[in-house]
Amino acid sequence: MILLTGLVGVLLVLTAEAKVGNAEGTECTETKECLLYELVCDTGEYEVRKYGAAKWVSTKEKSLTMDLAQMAAFKRLFGYISGENERGKKIEMTAPVIVEIPEKNFWERVNFTMSFLLPSEYQQNPPRATNDEVYIHEMPEMQMYVQSYGGWMTSFSDYYHARCLKDVLDEEEAMYGTKYHYGVSYNSPMTLFNRHNEVWVKVVGKPVCSSSGGMFN
Ligand SMILES: *[C@@H]1O[C@H](CO)[C@@H](O)[C@H](O)[C@H]1NC(C)=O
Repeated sequence: MILLTGLVGVLLVLTAEAKVGNAEGTECTETKECLLYELVCDTGEYEVRKYGAAKWVSTKEKSLTMDLAQMAAFKRLFGYISGENERGKKIEMTAPVIVEIPEKNFWERVNFTMSFLLPSEYQQNPPRATNDEVYIHEMPEMQMYVQSYGGWMTSFSDYYHARCLKDVLDEEEAMYGTKYHYGVSYNSPMTLFNRHNEVWVKVVGKPVCSSSGGMFN
């Protein structure tokens, strides 16, 4: 029993260490730490990435549009990292910030879930939030189809790029998660240039890495 507990402990330490780390050379240009991943392939139209399990601090906001939900959700999570947690800790901002965006009709109000990645220092033992709308959430290991774009992430740009990515995936007959996708951003709202955003769509089954759009297929 003791041995088993020890082993689980070692495994937890190993997984936590590898997944959140130094942002140098990554898409995270404004933070010290970033969610790291393994690039499975890059077809030119999309990438397939493998992410390890990691802990996030999350909050849900029910709204008609992501733009409205983002503001309230961001404020709540920013409160958590500014000290609204049971240890009164100031926690460093990391990247990316992700929003789980349900696929919906435009008139439907749904829950948008925004999450900040916890820095490596807090991956093991994050303080609980004092706001009961804010919670710690562990996302399991996952593979994502990823398309990147510049400018600002808005309901419109996110919808457009999610649609483009899914059209390409449909052409490839790739299987993917259809209940929601993620809107992923890497920059402070104050940053004007070289902004980077992504759409993530969950890989279902074996990832498809070919690209039939190319001349050689
Ligand atoms: C949104 O989240 C709240 C709180 O977790 C839950 O009670 C509600 O059923 C959810 N609504 C939808 C539309 O998913």
